[in-house]
Amino acid sequence: MAVLFGGRSSEHEVSIRSAASIIGALDGQRYAAIPIAIERSGRWLEPARSAGLLPAEVADKCCLEPVEFWHEPGRSRGFDLVFPALHGPFGEDGRVQGFLDMADVPYVGSGVLGSACGMDKDVMKRLFREHRLPTLPHVALARNETASRLGEIEECMGYPAFVKPANLGSSVGIRKVASRTDLSAAIEYAGQFDRKIIVERAVDAREIECAVLGNDEPRASLPGEIVVRDGFYDYDSKYVTDDAELVVPAQLEPDQVLAIQGLAVDAFRALDCAGLARVDFFIENSTGQVLVNEVNTMPGFTSISMFPKMWSASGLSYPDLIGQLIELAFMRHAQSREIRFEAS
Ligand SMILES: Nc1ncnc2c1ncn2[C@@H]1O[C@H](COP(=O)(O)OP(=O)(O)O)[C@@H](O)[C@H]1O
Ligand SMILES: [Mg+2]
Repeated sequence: MAVLFGGRSSEHEVSIRSAASIIGALDGQRYAAIPIAIERSGRWLEPARSAGLLPAEVADKCCLEPVEFWHEPGRSRGFDLVFPALHGPFGEDGRVQGFLDMADVPYVGSGVLGSACGMDKDVMKRLFREHRLPTLPHVALARNETASRLGEIEECMGYPAFVKPANLGSSVGIRKVASRTDLSAAIEYAGQFDRKIIVERAVDAREIECAVLGNDEPRASLPGEIVVRDGFYDYDSKYVTDDAELVVPAQLEPDQVLAIQGLAVDAFRALDCAGLARVDFFIENSTGQVLVNEVNTMPGFTSISMFPKMWSASGLSYPDLIGQLIELAFMRHAQSREIRFEAS
């Protein structure tokens, strides 16, 4: 199995940690791990150099023979499956998935459409609404229309509000604003990260997450909760100060658990996801309303990340989780083989 990691997004380092955990836990009797790193510049590295980015004990488990993505039928590529352990733009947004489809290789996780829909917060929220999933209303704007739309945004959203680049993750480019001056500056800031920006009302809420696993019959884990000190799970609290507390399973009433699991599966289906996804929710403090915030199609995958933790609390160990993802990837690829592309 080839494990793609690193990548061009701000989640480069997290991706290296995810890949190290995946390879570390892989059943060496059944699967050989071939590391393929993508540098920040976008350059792909040979397995032997890629292994150098991993901790020594993980690198020791790796197979370092050169591989080929393009192959002649009947000739081995050196691997038969890819785990794209990449987060954020280029790795989680359908681009790498399209490349793997073109090379006709089975891979873990969502295809082009599900990945792309899960990365674009504007499209994602429109699909939620279309499927009658509760989500915060939002306004989307192109970065060059800021001046003409400030009044309308203020009227629709009020303050405080959250301003986000449509296509990103890890809270990068996101700001909470409380005035027109802040709003305008935050849109300009978010516009450095994407052409499209979304604005939504800020809620005072608990942050709940739920893991989903499967293809056509996805199932949901027990939910977990992120307890953040200042009410904003920003880049620093995710990766630098690490001061957010992960509570798994979350303290919820049984009917809340069922509602969240149902919504998680519906959100997974609404976006046409496959393999895995982590669906993130808000439970608004003042009303108790459950709102779907976003879907992450390649969530953090270190052994202490929320996604594996929620499965472990639901009775599925980290190595078994990886085994299931591999099986789901082979199943999805086999199914796609049955699809006809010609009438004859
Ligand atoms: N509308 C909102 N109200 C309150 N907090 C929010 C809102 N939107 C985002 N946040 C905070 O910002 C964090 C990151 O936003 P999110 O939409 O999840 O983007 P990302 O894809 O970067 O994780 C959330 O986990 C939450 O702490
Ligand atoms: Mg998030």
